This record gives sequence, C-alpha cells and structure tokens, in this order.
Amino acid sequence: MLENQKDLFNLPDDITYLNCSYMSPMLKSVAEVGVRCLYGKDDPTSVKPEDFFKNTSALRSEFARLINADKEQDCAIIPSVSYGLANVAKNLKAGKGDNIVIAGEQFPSNVYAWKELENERGITLKLVAPPHIQEGRGKAWNELLLESIDSNTKMVATGHVHWTDGTRFDLKAIRERADEVGAILVIDGTQSIGALPFDVKEFKPDAVVAAGYKWLMGPYASGIAYYGEYFQNGSPIENNWMNRLHSEDFRNLINYQDEYQPGSIRYEVGESANFIQTPMLTRAIRQINEWGPQNIQAYCKKLTAPYLKELMEMGVQIEDEAYRGEHLFGLRLPKHMDMETVRLKFESNKIFVSIRGNSIRIAPHLYNGTEDFQRLLNSFKN
Ligand SMILES: Cc1ncc(COP(=O)(O)O)c(C=O)c1O
Repeated sequence: MLENQKDLFNLPDDITYLNCSYMSPMLKSVAEVGVRCLYGKDDPTSVKPEDFFKNTSALRSEFARLINADKEQDCAIIPSVSYGLANVAKNLKAGKGDNIVIAGEQFPSNVYAWKELENERGITLKLVAPPHIQEGRGKAWNELLLESIDSNTKMVATGHVHWTDGTRFDLKAIRERADEVGAILVIDGTQSIGALPFDVKEFKPDAVVAAGYKWLMGPYASGIAYYGEYFQNGSPIENNWMNRLHSEDFRNLINYQDEYQPGSIRYEVGESANFIQTPMLTRAIRQINEWGPQNIQAYCKKLTAPYLKELMEMGVQIEDEAYRGEHLFGLRLPKHMDMETVRLKFESNKIFVSIRGNSIRIAPHLYNGTEDFQRLLNSFKN
C-alpha cells in the first residue's frame, strides 16, 4: 500500500485540495525538469538534432507503458483533447444516416468535434443523458448508453469516468456492443488515465485522448493520444515535417517525403519535441508508472471509505462503488442541506472542490490525508 506522497509536491499546508480533476498540483520533480529545460536553451548548441526525436520517443514510451500499448509508435503527442479528437473526426468513416453515440453532459471538447460532423456530413449525434434517479443512477446510465447503440452507429465516444461526477462507464460492455454493430470506440481518458488503470488490451479502444495537466500531472497544453488500427493509414489534421519518414536526417529535409513515420506518429502536433513541456510530461508519467494507478485507487479508497460512510449516514448520496472512481466522485446533497451554506463552509475552511448543480465533485490523490477528509466532513456537521 502506498503511503501519503505530499512531500513530493509543493502544495500549501493550509489548504485541502480535492480538485485534481480541475488541475493537479505540480510534482517537485516535474518542476525541476521544467526549470532545467528552460535554461537548456541558454546554449542552443546543447540541443542536438537527435534530441528532437529522443524527447518525443521518451514521452510516447512512458505513456505506452501506462496504457499497456505494444509500442510507442501507437501513441502521439497532442496539445489538447480537442486536437486529438479533431484527428478522429477527420478520419471517421461515416456519413448521412449514420450516428455517433456519446454520453450526455460531456466536456465540450468531446462534443463540438462531433457537432461539426453533424453539420458537415449529416451524421446524427445521439447524446445519452443521465437518468434522473438517485439510486442505481450509474448502472441505469450505462444501460441507456448501450441501448442507444444501433446498426447505424459508427462511433461511441465517452470517458472512462464522467468528468462532472466520476460516473464510471463499463468500457468492456460498450466495446462488445460497439463490435456487434461495427462502431469504433473513442475514449477521452482525461479524467481517469493516470489514476484509474486503463489497459488498451482490455478495452480495445480505437482511439484514446488525454489532457496532461490533471491525472497525468504534467504541464498545461501537453497531452497524449493513442490511435489504433482503424487510424493507421489516415490523414492528419496538420502536416508537420517531424511526422514524415526520415525527418531525423536534417540534411535531407528538402527531399520531401510522402510517407509518414510509422504508426500513429502522423497525428502528432507540430513542434512535439517541445523542449520544456514534453520532458515535464514524461517525468510526470514516469512517476505515475512508478506509483501504479491501481495503487492510487487503493489509496483513495482506503482514505475516503470511513468518511463517505459517515456522509451517507447523514443523507448525502454517493454513487455505488462499482459505478464510480475512487479518485473522482460526486456528493449529492439531501433536501435538508443547503448548497450555498456548504459552499461557504468550504470557502472558510479552505477546501477546494468543484461544485456543479446539487453535486460536489471530490477528486483526491496521494497528497491528501485523513486531515483533509476530516475537514470536509466537519463542513457538513455544523
Ligand atoms: C473530460 C475532459 N476532457 C477534456 C478536457 C480538456 O479539453 P481540452 O484539452 O480540449 O481543453 C477536460 C478539462 O476539464 C475534461 O474534463
């Protein structure tokens, strides 16, 4: 069992930070890499042509390890989820009469990409809204999602957990249903990968995208994707030189190449070698691989269980364990509790969470301890 890892962060001592789903705090080791790399350009001769490719390969390899991909070339460095999904949208084989199924109330980057296809190609976008029930909500939402997939579905796009309240989607069941109708499965792993185990061999996604600044603990504007077989001969949304074959040979760059680098590298963003951000995200994911996402789940579960039990006894609704993350879940207030009163308590107790409607999003990590949850619990008591 992992111990509390707060010493590895510079998180202020007087706050209770339960909002990794908004933005992770910076690991000291990642900040050190960033500062060192910032000064790396003092002497530009220290940046060798091979460093452009070593940098990107290191990040892809670390991510491939995290998601159990066969090879680093299955992965691609992206600046944002919207960028990674634009590559999916461009290469989706679908047209008029076809549909796309997505979980309702998803993060906008995982909605606008498909709305555009609705306008451009006449594809129908089916948003599966959460059921308005308290008991068994996660299970029922999963069932609705599966029922929405039909013979005209060409893609299902969802998170592993929902970004607003951690509702967990049964990716194996969705994969099976998608296979029955020949649809691809696209996962926005931004709110799960890094903290919740994700294995491409288990879920067999066709594409996975993740922003790097939350559960992957990297800097803002560095993300990473995985593209499977379906995308291997596709056309990227931009054409940058590094993604072309033999671009390592700087003397021959004007012998323009029609061929791409192998695998998914064609989808990588221009200047992916980003000499500050890319090594920072690599260091962050290395730390996560050392911890192991299954151990992060176990830590969060052990930490939160007694407090969640007490909150539930007070009437607070929390999703069944099987249908939520241990690292991300919502607290729904009973009628007798006033959200504004709770919010003000949080503010005065320096508790940082996200509030949406009548749900409070709690997103703990290895830097949280019992004192944080004691403070949270106290805010509900008086
Ligand atoms: C589920 C999810 N996807 C994506 C993002 C970020 O998207 P983008 O990288 O396009 O800004 C967020 C940010 O909160 C998110 O919660």
